[in-house]
Amino acid sequence: MKKINVGIDLGTTYSAVATFSKELGRVQVLKNSYGKDCTPSVICIDNGSIMVGEDAKNEQKSGNVNTAAFYKSMMGDSNWSAFINGQEYSAEELSGLYLAHLIQDIKSTNSIDIDGAVITVPAYFNDKQREATIRAGQKAGLKVLKIINEPTSAIIAYGLTGGKEKNVLVYDLGGGTFDVTVANVNGTRIDVLATNGNHQLGGKDWDETLINQVKEKFYSEFGVSIDDHEEDLKELQVKCEEAKKLLSSVASTIITIQCDGYLGKYTVTREDFNDQTYSLLYETILLIKSCFDEISEAQNRPFGWNNIDEVVLVGGSTRMPQVKDMIIKEYGRPPITKDINVDTIVATGAAMQAELCVSNSITLTVASSASANSAKSSGTSMPTAPITLTIHNSDIQDITAHSLGMLALASDEKSYINSIIIRKNSKVNEPFSREYTFSGEKLQVYVLQGEARDPYECDIIGAYSITGMPKDNKSKIKVNFLYNSNGVVEVNACLDNGIVLSSTRENTNETMSEIIARLEREKKEAEEEAKRKSRIEIMLMIDTSGSMSGNRIREARRAAKDFVKEFDLNRVFISVISFADRSQYKCKWENDERRLYHAIDDVDVNDVGYCNAETPINNNYKKFTRDCPRVIVVLTDGYWNDQSTEETAADRAKADGIIIYGIGIGDADEAFLSRISSGKGKKVDLSQLSATFKEVASSIATEVVGNSLK
Ligand SMILES: Nc1ncnc2c1ncn2[C@@H]1O[C@H](COP(=O)(O)OP(=O)(O)OP(=O)(O)O)[C@@H](O)[C@H]1O
Ligand SMILES: [Mg+2]
Repeated sequence: MKKINVGIDLGTTYSAVATFSKELGRVQVLKNSYGKDCTPSVICIDNGSIMVGEDAKNEQKSGNVNTAAFYKSMMGDSNWSAFINGQEYSAEELSGLYLAHLIQDIKSTNSIDIDGAVITVPAYFNDKQREATIRAGQKAGLKVLKIINEPTSAIIAYGLTGGKEKNVLVYDLGGGTFDVTVANVNGTRIDVLATNGNHQLGGKDWDETLINQVKEKFYSEFGVSIDDHEEDLKELQVKCEEAKKLLSSVASTIITIQCDGYLGKYTVTREDFNDQTYSLLYETILLIKSCFDEISEAQNRPFGWNNIDEVVLVGGSTRMPQVKDMIIKEYGRPPITKDINVDTIVATGAAMQAELCVSNSITLTVASSASANSAKSSGTSMPTAPITLTIHNSDIQDITAHSLGMLALASDEKSYINSIIIRKNSKVNEPFSREYTFSGEKLQVYVLQGEARDPYECDIIGAYSITGMPKDNKSKIKVNFLYNSNGVVEVNACLDNGIVLSSTRENTNETMSEIIARLEREKKEAEEEAKRKSRIEIMLMIDTSGSMSGNRIREARRAAKDFVKEFDLNRVFISVISFADRSQYKCKWENDERRLYHAIDDVDVNDVGYCNAETPINNNYKKFTRDCPRVIVVLTDGYWNDQSTEETAADRAKADGIIIYGIGIGDADEAFLSRISSGKGKKVDLSQLSATFKEVASSIATEVVGNSLK
C-alpha cells in the first residue's frame, strides 16, 4: 500500500487530515469514513472499546458520560486529567488515543498507509504543550515530522501565490483557541512578524454563554440545576453548540432541554448572543492590537491595520457574523473569504509542510498572482491560467510566541526574576547564549516561558543540569538557548574552549515558590559554607620561659604585632598562647586588632613557669574550632624537655591538615623545629624576627589560603 506523509490539524473540536499530491501539485483533504473532511475531536471509552469522531460525538449528545472533548486545551497540564470508566487519562493520552483511531479511520477509508505526519498546534502553545503534542503523535504510532503553528500553516496554504509583497493577518478562532498572526509574504517567502493569542479562548466559550443562559433559565423556571445531571449537561453542551452554529445563519433559534422530568424550551437570538459574547470578541481585538504594538516596537515605526494588506479568517468560529463585522469595523475592508475553507486550511498547510520536511521543496500549482491580487481588491477574480511555484523549506521563517527566560537573582541579590534571554517574536532556530563563570560540579538553570519579570507569572519549562566542568577550577561556560523549528526549547552548554558539556533536562514538579524557597536555602547554605571556608585560624605560641627575658620577649611582641598587621582580620582569627611549663591563652580566636595587641602585650616571661616542660602543640592542636585552614606558629629560644611527645603531636596535627611553622631564636634546636614544622624550621637572629614573622604571614597567604589575606 502507498505510504504517504500527512498534515494533521489536531483541533480542539474538529480535526482534519490532508496530504500533498506531487502529481497534482496540490493538497488533497482526506475524508473520514463518514465522507467528511473534519472529524469531531471527541473520544468515547466505553467498556474497553474506543470510539472517536462522529460516533463519539453522538454518544456525547446522548449523554454518555464516558466521553471526553476539549482536552486539547489541557495539553501539557500535569494537574489535569479526565476520569473515564474509573480510569484516569491525561490530555496527552486522550490525544494519543484519538489520533491513533483517527489515523486508522483515514487509512482504511482512503486505502493508504501513513508514514510521517506534521501536526499543527496553536501558535500560542507553550513548550510543554508542544512536547505533549509530539508525544501524543508518537503514542499514536506516528512518525512526527514536525510541529507547526496553525496560523503559519494557514498562511502556507493561502499566502503562497507568488504575488507581490504583502502583510497578511491570520485571525484564527477555533473551538478552543484564538491565535492572531501577522506575516510578511513575498513571493514564496513567508516571514512571520508577530503572533499573539489565548489558548483558553475559542468557540467553546461562546457555547458556554448559551449553556449558562439556558441553565439559569431552567433553574429559575423549575428550581433544578442541570449541573447536578451530568448526562443532561453533556447533551446541553452539544445542543448549545448546534444552536450557536445556527445563529450564524438565522436570527433566532430554540434550545430545548429535558432534565429531571422537566422540559424547558428557550428562544435565543443572535442579537442577544452578540451582546453577551462581546467581551470575548473584544479580547481578540485587544490581542490583535498588542500584536501590532509588538511589530511597531520591533520595526521602530508605527504598525497598524493600514499596514495589513489582507485579513484571512481561519477556524470554524470565524463563521459567526460578529467576527466578520468586527473585522470590517476595525479594518475598514472585508476579510478574504474566497477559496478559503476555514475548516481545512490549517490541515492543507500542514500537508504542504509534511512534503517540505521530506523533499525540502515542493512544486505547487496555484491561481496566478494576478488572480490572487484581484481577489484582494475586489473579492472576486477573473479566471487566469494557473502558475507553478517552487517552495523550499527554508522559505518559511516562523517565530516564537513566548519569551524564554531563566530564573535569576535580581541585582539587589534579594529577589528572583525572569531574566529574558529570547524575546517573544524572535525567529525560531536562532540560538542565544549566556556566559557564566562557575566553579562547582553542577550548574542548574531553570528555564521559564513568559513575558513578566515576576517569575511567579511564568511557566516553568524545566531545570537543566549542566555537568562535566573541570574540577577545582573556575570555568567559563557558554549556555545556548534555542527554540527549535518545532518551537520546542533546547538548552546545551560548552566551555569557552568549545568542549561540549552534558546538559540534561529534569522535568520538575516543584512550584515556583518551592523552587525559590529551595534556591534561597541553598544560597544561604553556600554562603555559610563559603564563610566557614574563608575563616582562617592561627595559634600563635610564644615561648615565655626565663631565657626569653629582656630583648627577646620585647622583640617577640614586636614581631607578633607585625605578624598580625599582615592579615585581613575579617577572616583571620588568632589565639595568642604563652607557654613555658604550662600554656596559657592570652586571647582566644580574636580578630579585633586592638584586643590582639593587648593580648600580645600581656605575653610575659614567667607567665606560666620558668622552664620548657610544656608540650604546647600536644595540648592545644585539638582546640581549633572548625574544619577551616588552621595554622600553628611557634616561637621558641631553647630546648624542650619532652621533644618526642611534641613531635608525635605535630605529626598528628599535620596529618589532620594543620600547618605548623617553627621559628627559633637564641638556643633553639633547629633540627627539632624542622621536625615539628610542615616545611623547614627556621632559626634566625633576633634582629630578623619581625621580618621572619612577616614572611610566615605571606607564606600563610600564598601557600595555605592561595591568595592575599589583605
Ligand atoms: N457556522 C458556525 N457558526 C459558529 N461557529 C461555528 C460554525 N461552524 C463551526 N463553528 C465552531 O467552530 C469551532 C470549531 O472550529 P475549528 O474546527 O476550526 O476548531 P478546532 O480546530 O477544533 O479548534 P482549535 O483550532 O481551537 O484547536 C467550534 O467551536 C464550532 O462550534
Ligand atoms: Mg483549529
